[in-house]
Amino acid sequence: MTVHIGADVGQIAETVLMPGDPLRAKWAAETFLDGPECINRVRGMLGFTGTWKGNRVTIQGSGMGMPSLSIYANELITTYGAQTLIRIGSCGAMQPDVGIRDVIIAMTASTLTSPSSAILRDINFAPCADWSLLNAAVTAAQARTVQTHVGGIYSSDVFYAERPDLDEQMARHGILGVEMEAAELYTLAARHKRRALAILTVSDHLQTGEAVPAQDREQSFGDMVEIALEAAFPDA
Ligand code: HPA
Repeated sequence: MTVHIGADVGQIAETVLMPGDPLRAKWAAETFLDGPECINRVRGMLGFTGTWKGNRVTIQGSGMGMPSLSIYANELITTYGAQTLIRIGSCGAMQPDVGIRDVIIAMTASTLTSPSSAILRDINFAPCADWSLLNAAVTAAQARTVQTHVGGIYSSDVFYAERPDLDEQMARHGILGVEMEAAELYTLAARHKRRALAILTVSDHLQTGEAVPAQDREQSFGDMVEIALEAAFPDA
């Protein structure tokens, strides 16, 4: 048990999927895992462990934003021995050819700052995905009909951005979408020699204003969960 996770050591699998929303963790565990068991309720940040094709998997909510994700990822890594951490989340599209409901597999995650900035100081670290996971996720995505994009994303500190020029510069430099967690996950994985990847479903479009209606979200997010599971267990 840690400050923020009530599970006993051993109740959390080496492979952890991390949606921002704890209720999406519940939905994904109940939809895709066999024998899901709730292993965390602290602060309502639900976590579940079950199996997928015989492989143990935990799906643990991360909360929104890098400070929140950093708490859960740190505890999962250092106390529970998580080896593979895959964020499954939503993002806003930043390119005209990226549509809502498309999947983005994040090769890199750019930031202005992250919880790790104080450690990295003057280092302009480039947080990047684990290659083996990225490669397996791309293979899994290509076997499906969902439109998939692979490239850089922007992990922002704010949802309500007051500096449109930042989004413009990110878009001008080819960034596919904006979310709020991946860069810290990639940085923690690098520091602790773990594998990390972020797979995102586009929930809204910054340039067109389009958004996935609330009732469609679960279906669109299903592809992403299956891609994450297939990437984690490519031989299953
Ligand atoms: N900005 C930041 N995070 C997000 C967005 C967004 O537009 N959409 C989904 N997550």
